[in-house]
Amino acid sequence: MNIDIIISADDIKEKKILNKSVVVIDILRATSVIVTAINNGCKEVIPVLTVDEAVGIARKDRKKYMLGGERDAIKIKGFDFSNSPLEYNSDKVKDKTLIMTTTNGTRAIKASINAKHIIIAAMINAEAVAKKLINLNNDIVIVNSGTNGEFSIDDFICSGYIISILKKKREFHLSDIATTALYIYENNKDIKSFIRYANHYKKISKLGLYEDLEYCCQKDIIDSVPEYKDGSIH
Ligand code: MLT
Repeated sequence: MNIDIIISADDIKEKKILNKSVVVIDILRATSVIVTAINNGCKEVIPVLTVDEAVGIARKDRKKYMLGGERDAIKIKGFDFSNSPLEYNSDKVKDKTLIMTTTNGTRAIKASINAKHIIIAAMINAEAVAKKLINLNNDIVIVNSGTNGEFSIDDFICSGYIISILKKKREFHLSDIATTALYIYENNKDIKSFIRYANHYKKISKLGLYEDLEYCCQKDIIDSVPEYKDGSIH
């Protein structure tokens, strides 16, 4: 079995992901939000590309649909939630359908539709994701959502962490980029010491969202492994 990495949502190519188990990562913060919401009883998350599309769906039934996401890391006008995972507690999301649009994360998920499986991962559910991937027994491509089409340290180190768990469970052939992610993680296991150099980490810090950063950098606090299938994430 092979493991490869794609470094941003803009770099996803059909031939790279076809028939593969794709793992989409945007630890700061889209996939951390999705994992948290599903773990707290959210019925489903529907990722969409534009604010207009999100509002159009939610308008049909404002009791059923909640709106969440960001533009430029800030809550969108008229939305119920920002992109802070801490807002998605069970009181607010239980049994609701969340319509979500973000700059990079939801884009990466939707661009992966030609994969065999699309698994949603973050630091907070990495161990559970690795277990699921072993069970799927398929070649793996880890999609880093990145930031505006560019490589991001935060998603890359999370990829390295997932690879380190997978390698303990069985043998894999790693692409050079997967080997590099593993190397970076193995040398920075206290991931925050490295993630703090990431531009998006600095941006979230500037906004004063320190609790989000603390939360998203925790390892393995959640066992849920959301999967995107037929337009929604469960
Ligand atoms: C995204 O999808 O671009 C991010 O999750 C941005 C953010 O931190 O809110």
